[in-house]
Amino acid sequence: MDHKLITLEKVPHALVEQIVATDFSNLLQYYRDENLCQLRVGISKVQKTPHCYETILFDWDDVEKDLFLSELFGYVETVYQRNKSPSKAMGLRPQLIHYPKDVGCLGSHYHDNSIQKIGAVCVLQSSHENGVFYVERGKQIYLANERVGDCIVFDFGLVHGVASYSTIPDGFFEKGDANKIDLNEIGRLVAVLSSE
Ligand SMILES: [Fe+2]
Repeated sequence: MDHKLITLEKVPHALVEQIVATDFSNLLQYYRDENLCQLRVGISKVQKTPHCYETILFDWDDVEKDLFLSELFGYVETVYQRNKSPSKAMGLRPQLIHYPKDVGCLGSHYHDNSIQKIGAVCVLQSSHENGVFYVERGKQIYLANERVGDCIVFDFGLVHGVASYSTIPDGFFEKGDANKIDLNEIGRLVAVLSSE
């Protein structure tokens, strides 16, 4: 099967304004304090993917109590539905993923057996324009002009990942040393729907 990038959709202007006005550093700290934020550093077992990110996995009930989150994830869900992929009825859960500046990243991987046929990733904050990439004929291809409020929609079988901002020291993922990570500066923050 020929996997390819599907599209880049802009979230509605009013929602972009809300995204820009949100203090995400503060919000992330709130979730850390509430023990709702998980830091994941290491190398995945099956695809051997190096990764370093924080994740907050929500229940839809919690999202629906928060006006901003319900609009945000509601929009991402409409993107799923437009692309004929399973919606929340199929068990997709809302998630925020924070890639800390410098070392935050997610190596090349794909989701061929996922119930999700597409990935829809909405950019909330980014310290560098070219965070997300996909792989075509062995080459990493970055999306040009990725902006806050962009919803990147892609075939989930496509090999993809998120590049780190800085060069990562040798052995960092093997050791998974969380103490070496500065969580205070946001490298990249995205909203996704995920079955995991
Ligand atoms: Fe992925």
